[in-house]
Amino acid sequence: MRRFLFFLFLVTSLFATNPYVAKDFSGLIGQIPGLADELIRMHLTLYEGYVKNINLITDGLKKLQALRQEGGVSFGALKKQWSWEYDGMILHELYFENLAPGGRALEDGPLLKKITDTFKTLDSFKREFKNVGMIRGIGWVVLTCEPIQGNLVINWIDEHNIGELVKGKTLLVMDVWEHAYITQFGLDRGRYIDIFLNNINWDVVTKRVEQSSKKSSLKNPSIVYRKN
Ligand SMILES: [Fe+2]
Repeated sequence: MRRFLFFLFLVTSLFATNPYVAKDFSGLIGQIPGLADELIRMHLTLYEGYVKNINLITDGLKKLQALRQEGGVSFGALKKQWSWEYDGMILHELYFENLAPGGRALEDGPLLKKITDTFKTLDSFKREFKNVGMIRGIGWVVLTCEPIQGNLVINWIDEHNIGELVKGKTLLVMDVWEHAYITQFGLDRGRYIDIFLNNINWDVVTKRVEQSSKKSSLKNPSIVYRKN
């Protein structure tokens, strides 16, 4: 009986949560001016790998927990890898979601006001965003609304999991891993960034602002990150 109960526990714990499912971004292929179909196709395949891996790691952790092997090296390694894969999955989804063919304009409103209060103009914001994107290394450039004062910050994320602002609201995401551009642009990362900036879906970014918590506040545009 005890064996049966243990087996039952093992099986139910393995299937207690639903697996993550890759979102369908295939509509971007052939639709983003300046980004080659093959580049986007490869990038989407790579994103699907993150979804596959997060599910494999989740299952692996459950198996180790069911066997009560949480103290081992394998558990620790998988646990750390889980965060890396998870952040990689989510950052890719945010990145693909904030792309649109030819971009969508940023309309007058709290976000534009906040950006101009912080960076003077939308163009100067883009210049600063690009400057951060040119930092040597692999990672992400993110526009974040930090949660304490509601300031806008352009922050660099190393790989996927080093540099996120805890509790910050992620508004705009750009992938600057080499796989995001090197097969089409070689070492000319700047050209890739220019194309990204021309294809931002500001409607999506604005929605992210609206969905952010009441505390974070783009609702209080008088609070600024920095005035030059
Ligand atoms: Fe990527």
